[in-house]
Amino acid sequence: MSADEVTQAEKAGAAPYSRALLSVYDTVVLRWSNTLVWRCPSERLLAHYNSHLGGRHLDIGPGTGWYLQHANYPNPNPEVALLDLNPNTLQMTTARLADRGITAAAHTSSVLAPLPRNIGVFDSVAANFVLHCVPGTWTEKGQAFGHIAQVMADDGVFFGSTILATGVHHTLLSRALNSLYNGPIKLFHNRGDDLDGLHTALTTTFENVEITVVGAVAVFAAHRPRRPGS
Ligand SMILES: C[S@@+](CC[C@H](N)C(=O)[O-])C[C@H]1O[C@@H](n2cnc3c(N)ncnc32)[C@H](O)[C@@H]1O
Repeated sequence: MSADEVTQAEKAGAAPYSRALLSVYDTVVLRWSNTLVWRCPSERLLAHYNSHLGGRHLDIGPGTGWYLQHANYPNPNPEVALLDLNPNTLQMTTARLADRGITAAAHTSSVLAPLPRNIGVFDSVAANFVLHCVPGTWTEKGQAFGHIAQVMADDGVFFGSTILATGVHHTLLSRALNSLYNGPIKLFHNRGDDLDGLHTALTTTFENVEITVVGAVAVFAAHRPRRPGS
């Protein structure tokens, strides 16, 4: 797929993030839903950022930019790039980072497409709560991992988290909302997302993969990208 061939399903995964939704996202999703529904508090995910952020960081699907605004960077002048299909999230995150004195390069593209040329090389790449919004099987979503590996430094890390449909414990509430978001309210595309499939897809691209399940969420970090021919 070329960067110009974004499918309707991909667009639909990013489309809900209007300015109106983003204005309530930190309260409804980050404060309430992450803790009460998915049982993976935002503070746990912020700690994951703090453990893995590098000096050159690419954030895919940054949403409101809350994690990037509150995270601890390894140096005072990090180089940050953002990639999202939705320009609203790029604008909001860029503004929040500017408040911290960080200038971010913003790229409008899909995580499933080859990454923009000359986007750079990164010590860390994050996709937090993004993969459950992206359509496709793990094989299809895993193509994104291949693109990400190409822009990672050899000692870099790809990290993030994603809500799974199976292989994790769901409560009645989380199961009901996951079904709702895959059906009538089209926010998620994770009906087929299982824990083993995520592990296999990451291991296809990275030599070292760690996944911790927190509530209904897989929190992952992958190191040592496999380089074709090496
Ligand atoms: C659930 S929000 C997560 C926001 C933030 N990372 C967080 O953890 O709160 C999903 C984000 O992924 C973006 N997104 C969805 N599908 C995408 C795609 N195919 N390519 C790039 N970004 C996408 C959305 O626009 C949004 O910013």
